[in-house]
Amino acid sequence: MASNRKVLMLPGDGIGPEVVGQVKRVMDWMEKRGLAGFEVTEDLVGGAAYDVHGTPLADSTLEAAMASDAVLLGAVGGPKWDALPFEAKPERGLLRLRKEMELFANLRPALVFDALVDASTLKPEIVRGLDIMIVRELTGGIYFGEPRGIEDLGWGERKGINTQVYTTTEIRRVARVAFDLALKRGGRVCSCEKANVMESGVLWREEVQKVHDDEYPEIELSHMYADNAAMQLVRDPKQFDVIVTDNLFGDILSDEAAMLTGSLGMLPSASLGAEDEDGRRRAMYEPVHGSAPDIAGKDMANPLATLLSFSMMLRYSFAMGDEADLLDGAIRKVLDGGMRTADIMQKGKARVSTTVMGDALLDELDRRAA
Ligand code: IPM
Ligand code: MG
Repeated sequence: MASNRKVLMLPGDGIGPEVVGQVKRVMDWMEKRGLAGFEVTEDLVGGAAYDVHGTPLADSTLEAAMASDAVLLGAVGGPKWDALPFEAKPERGLLRLRKEMELFANLRPALVFDALVDASTLKPEIVRGLDIMIVRELTGGIYFGEPRGIEDLGWGERKGINTQVYTTTEIRRVARVAFDLALKRGGRVCSCEKANVMESGVLWREEVQKVHDDEYPEIELSHMYADNAAMQLVRDPKQFDVIVTDNLFGDILSDEAAMLTGSLGMLPSASLGAEDEDGRRRAMYEPVHGSAPDIAGKDMANPLATLLSFSMMLRYSFAMGDEADLLDGAIRKVLDGGMRTADIMQKGKARVSTTVMGDALLDELDRRAA
């Protein structure tokens, strides 16, 4: 099938290749069924790239990412590369991709599947039906702020420095992404910062409020200190619709939200840049979980977060909402049928491998497309 959908696969380290492998099977299935064509290339990132190129992201890989319509990334990192200097660490490859591609809006939906209500560590009534969207600012804040570094003060004393910094433009553009999403969802946005102790938080609050008042008055906007938000997420998570927050708070709150759904192995994400004149936007899709070195290569990992990330790619990069619904529906059905990887295993269910989970999904897709 002819195709203009250029997808760059970056499986990365640990369980990355295994979970990305299941997405490749679904892509092949879609091609065979004549549902979509993809022009797929594959490259290295993270520790895997370091081992070959001596850097966690080669310039040629970054160029390929820039030229693609969408990137699918597995995971980066592992104990093998822990002792490397900061700039060579696998995580730097991921951060450089985000920064250079200007993927400033990171969408992390936390959705509780009915079949997994009991897999959560929280009471069923707290999480049943949960559907929240965390929008994390991804290219600014303390992750990238200058000055940064470790200074030797000379008398056996050292100083570690990072800088939290946000500009009006950075805050406004991510706020707009959150408001636009809320328009298509429950119409509510909660913005989180620490305006009680940080000037950057004061600016964040003022700018989000301004974008709201000028452009999105129909949205219900609230503000919350990030520590309170962390507490509210476990107390009563269903009070939230869309949460918008900075890079560091978003990192933390999204791990917390992920656990509400039963497992980090269930959470997908999309990282989006600004739209260009042709309505095209750079994008990278990745599971929220890490490389899980302890179970890497054992065919044990949960591939669903990566498959759900691919579904987000279909939705956000290729306007293929029907195909995304098809895939989401098939995933739901496989879970309803009792298939569980180790991380979401429950009593009375069938514990399956990564590959068998993929098999079951393809069977279900076959049934649906028949
Ligand atoms: C995430 C991860 C990354 C981050 C790491 C791997 C650099 O925790 O995507 O949430 O801190 O952003
Ligand atoms: Mg994280």
